[in-house]
Amino acid sequence: MKGKQWVLVKHFEGEPKDEDLQLQEFDLPDELNDGEVLLEAVYLSVDPYMRPYSKTKNPPLTMFGEQIAKVIKTKNGEFPLGTVVLTMSGWRSHFISKGQDLRPVSFDLGNTPLSYCLGTLGMPGATAYFGLGLLQPKKGDKLILNGAAGAVGSIVGQLAKIHGVEVIAFVGSDDKLNWCKNELGFDHVFNYKNVNFSETIKKIAPDGCELFFDNVGGDWYHSVINKHLKRYGKATICGSIENYNDKTEKLYPATNYKILSLELKIQGIIVNTFIKEWPKAFTEMNQYIQDGKLKVKETVYDGFDNMRSAFYGLFIGENIGKAIVKA
Ligand SMILES: NC(=O)c1ccc[n+]([C@@H]2O[C@H](COP(=O)([O-])OP(=O)(O)OC[C@H]3O[C@@H](n4cnc5c(N)ncnc54)[C@H](OP(=O)(O)O)[C@@H]3O)[C@@H](O)[C@H]2O)c1
Repeated sequence: MKGKQWVLVKHFEGEPKDEDLQLQEFDLPDELNDGEVLLEAVYLSVDPYMRPYSKTKNPPLTMFGEQIAKVIKTKNGEFPLGTVVLTMSGWRSHFISKGQDLRPVSFDLGNTPLSYCLGTLGMPGATAYFGLGLLQPKKGDKLILNGAAGAVGSIVGQLAKIHGVEVIAFVGSDDKLNWCKNELGFDHVFNYKNVNFSETIKKIAPDGCELFFDNVGGDWYHSVINKHLKRYGKATICGSIENYNDKTEKLYPATNYKILSLELKIQGIIVNTFIKEWPKAFTEMNQYIQDGKLKVKETVYDGFDNMRSAFYGLFIGENIGKAIVKA
């Protein structure tokens, strides 16, 4: 039997290119050793962090990342046939494990689809939950949110609405705009490709906003900090996808004066810092899902062979909600 894996054969330079990632086959043994299990991928995650994180590794290497996998052969009593687990086993269709790297779903999923464990009830959802939590949102606050139709952003906006916050959201297509406006109920939604985001924010909130959740970085970060936050305003710096494909690092003029003069509170987030609290957050968010208060969308790419396209799609705004691959 053969497995497949996607191998990063050289560092991405600028936009990821087809020749950077290769689909390769590898042999799987006919027999397992005692204690081993053979797993088959069910759903695999593609996430923006994979682009900057790849710079810290030396190719060639199997692309890293999380997947939901099923036990299809076992010589380990802890993992009977059919057991479904979460694992950071990378972009592989099959792999052998002794069990130490396999995690069960850590909360009651109920009727919620399993694939949500890679999105709203997984790393991106935890990022939204704890990243918004850092802002301590209050009823009536105004929140500036970019990347608002993505895996993280769509959940940030909806949780903010649950807190009574007025959400000013930016997305990169009219389909995303319609979804955020009509289904998610964000208060103000704009396609940033058709408007000047800074002028737009100024019109809606001439006196500034209390909160900013930044998924994009670059010009957004500097514009919002310099022009659109109130005194004691707060920002969660979550991502900087605008710069992930830059060939050289951009150095922006310092925004420190604004930060100190308005006494802004700006905090980065690394979602794994909160890992012990994830199950509690997922239980709460799953209840919102069951109650219809939290809507989830996935862009599902069919087939393991399409992982590369799914990943590249993140950088051209192809996905609405969480991008996943169904193996
Ligand atoms: N700090 C953490 O622990 C943590 C954890 C998870 C994610 N993140 C970060 O959070 C951000 C969102 O992640 P996600 O998983 O939710 O991804 P996502 O929003 O589901 O997908 C990426 C989206 O980013 C937008 N985008 C792509 N290139 C862009 C560019 N050059 N300028 C502006 N927007 C661009 C596109 O949406 P549009 O069509 O709307 O442009 C695209 O659909 C990323 O920056 C990610 O690295 C951080």
